[in-house]
Amino acid sequence: MNIIVTGGAGFIGSNFIFHMLNKHPDYRIVCLDKLTYAGNLSTLAPVMDHPCFRFVKADICDREAVYKLFEEEHPDMVVNFAAESHVDRSIENPEVFLRTNILGTQVMMDACRKYGIKRYHQVSTDEVYGDLPLDRPDLMFTEETPIHTSSPYSAAKASADLMVQAYHRTFGLPVTISRCSNNYGPYHFPEKLIPLMIANALNDKPLPVYGTGENVRDWLYVEDHCKAIDLILHKGRVGEVYNIGGHNEMKNIDIVKIICKALNKPESLITYVTDRKGHDMRYAIDPTKIHTELGWLPETKFVDGIQKTIQWYLDNKEWWEEIINGEYQNYYKKMYGNR
Ligand code: NAD
Ligand code: TYD
Repeated sequence: MNIIVTGGAGFIGSNFIFHMLNKHPDYRIVCLDKLTYAGNLSTLAPVMDHPCFRFVKADICDREAVYKLFEEEHPDMVVNFAAESHVDRSIENPEVFLRTNILGTQVMMDACRKYGIKRYHQVSTDEVYGDLPLDRPDLMFTEETPIHTSSPYSAAKASADLMVQAYHRTFGLPVTISRCSNNYGPYHFPEKLIPLMIANALNDKPLPVYGTGENVRDWLYVEDHCKAIDLILHKGRVGEVYNIGGHNEMKNIDIVKIICKALNKPESLITYVTDRKGHDMRYAIDPTKIHTELGWLPETKFVDGIQKTIQWYLDNKEWWEEIINGEYQNYYKKMYGNR
């Protein structure tokens, strides 16, 4: 099996590459990544010389480069992780989100149509369903929940999902889509909640909590997400959407307090800042379909996963310090400077 993994130099894509090379030693994995601010080649250093791995720097919107890669590699499958992924950046500058997340998806699928493919898998997000109220804990996102987006990020991801379904219906492209809740774990870019709070706490910097901190996310350890995608590729039904999530709803403020406690830092570092525009209140996944059809269940409990994650950031300071000492400083000043 030869699999092209786009966006494999980012958070989830890199974890997926490690998982696949480990679990399927006879597979060839080709990573296609533009190396935007969120892509980090050093993340892939452990597998760069692996005989079953190849890295190609290219933009998924670059049709010529994508077609060339298909001609060279004749992939059996494509797993499309490549995306602009940060909601706050999508509020500042939506355009690149439309370009990469929608047009890039189209280019990848056109290549799959042109050269033939066994499976095109679109890595999507629970954010396409919009949000849920805090006072209705009985409500959760199922695969039947209508698309109802809030941010330019989620609108672009939802548009891509609709294109994927259109390519299946119109052209018979063998697709699957997964919609996962918030991931956490190693190699998470420090603009996102958990790694940002860990890095700031370790540097004794303020911990900026948006609004009241009551917003709820349904956290899943990244390895469990990777295992779910692996299962969908091998056993999932073509044309189907699978929700992925682990019934692990937590308030942002509680997560930040857990991080303070684990690092022995005072909660007085917590600073409430102006809320995100259009801030989604609550996400919660109903994973019944992937559980009953494919037997998937999350394996890592949050108490263990967050410990492992914090330990990883303690053990790999050079990875994230290099990021936060670079261009990230301008980003941080712009987003948090006068907040
Ligand atoms: P990330 O921002 O950490 O990584 C994105 C990767 O894509 C980077 O390596 C970047 O260089 C690459 N990339 C961006 N634009 C590209 C382009 N035009 N061409 C080629 N490569 C490009 O993102 P992530 O958190 O790992 O998310 C991966 C995917 O999973 C995304 O599609 C995201 O929507 C989805 N997702 C993420 C989460 C989460 O909690 N992080 C949850 C559900 C779904
Ligand atoms: P984030 O990690 O950006 O993921 P998403 O918006 O895709 O769920 O944010 C998770 C939650 O944490 C979200 O409710 C926004 C909040 N948040 C903060 O309170 N402060 C921060 O500095 C960041 C980055 C996020």
